Amino acid sequence: MVVQINANYLKLKAGYLFPEIARRVKDFSSKHPDADLIRLGIGDVTEPLPEACRNAMKVAIDEMGTLEGFHGYGPEQGYLWLREAIAKNDFQDRGCDIDPDEIFVSDGSKCDSSNILDILGDSNRVAVTDPVYPVYVDSNVMAGRTGISKDFGRYEQLLYIPITAENGFQAEIPENHVDLIYLCFPNNPTGAVASKEQLANWVQYAIDHGSLILFDAAYEAFIQDESIPHSIYEIPGAKECAIEFRSFSKNAGFTGTRCAFTVIPKGLKGVANNGEKVDLWSLWNRRQSTKFNGVSYIVQRGAHAAYSIEGRNQINSLVSFYMENATIIRNQLSEAGLKVFGGENAPYVWLNVPKGMDSWQFFDFLLLKANVVGTPGSGFGSSGEGYFRLSAFNSRDNVNIAMERIKKL
Ligand code: MLT
Repeated sequence: MVVQINANYLKLKAGYLFPEIARRVKDFSSKHPDADLIRLGIGDVTEPLPEACRNAMKVAIDEMGTLEGFHGYGPEQGYLWLREAIAKNDFQDRGCDIDPDEIFVSDGSKCDSSNILDILGDSNRVAVTDPVYPVYVDSNVMAGRTGISKDFGRYEQLLYIPITAENGFQAEIPENHVDLIYLCFPNNPTGAVASKEQLANWVQYAIDHGSLILFDAAYEAFIQDESIPHSIYEIPGAKECAIEFRSFSKNAGFTGTRCAFTVIPKGLKGVANNGEKVDLWSLWNRRQSTKFNGVSYIVQRGAHAAYSIEGRNQINSLVSFYMENATIIRNQLSEAGLKVFGGENAPYVWLNVPKGMDSWQFFDFLLLKANVVGTPGSGFGSSGEGYFRLSAFNSRDNVNIAMERIKKL
């Protein structure tokens, strides 16, 4: 075999964070088969799908069993009725001027936030926060846009913007020029949020520098503080400089069902090699039409039902349930003497690991002594060292038991 591989993959760090955790947990379980593990690691939802979504999917399955109701290939951009519901409920009702045509329904924000690199040039200078959702970094590594990793595992061509307790988990505006900026608010992993003013500073920076913000708002439904924006398009000027990623995974429990969407405002422009301005919407539409066949009719019907009155009530209950878990985690860990952050407008609680341990040592310690799985902060970047993430996605009983076990340590 003389087929060449994409050598950029060899620059990746050993394993993607969550499979690496799963590998360690599997190893632990094989040695301790009786251990009653509680998983507060990967942010995967645990509560059942909302009834409104399930019912809509059942009806759609029956429709598919009839000649008149059968659906083959759907529009690559998603069915108009779903895009209209998204545009109205998620954007127009919040005062954001987003048109259904600017929405592309997909099977996940993880895929979209990686695939977007297909339409963006190789020489863009990229900024990420540190810690960061690892997908943004790894997809740039795979695309050959980072160089190799050097000190503290940081890639030489990426600009890292630290978000730590010292700066209140705020991503400070860089002094130098960057072309692409990944922002995730409410933040995975720290649970921090960005105020209108902070996002307005980013939008101004992007407009001044001709940069593009890739805004991941997958956790917007968990915002409790009414002053915090849910969408970057709540900031004037954002339509000229930002793409937004959204998901039904965490609010409506679609992690296994798969439905998400990306907003690309019409008129958002990039530059070709010859200096000509090119519409990003058209490039993404071209990309999706070639490489993607859309989300299934049945699943889109389920997502659409998330906007019905029942669907909205059921989703609000799910979000409240997980946020109560987050409050329990915050309070119990604080009582145990740990310093906690996040968990107030996001389903993730971020904490300082006890003195004398690093993040992975605390991971092993919790696994062994409390049979609780979390996520080591250093897995999200070198500035995450010394921190640890616990997810609020689990049953109430499991959260309570996990907290009791941790408090006993
Ligand atoms: C996480 O745990 O960070 C999430 O599962 C990320 C994701 O949604 O892919």
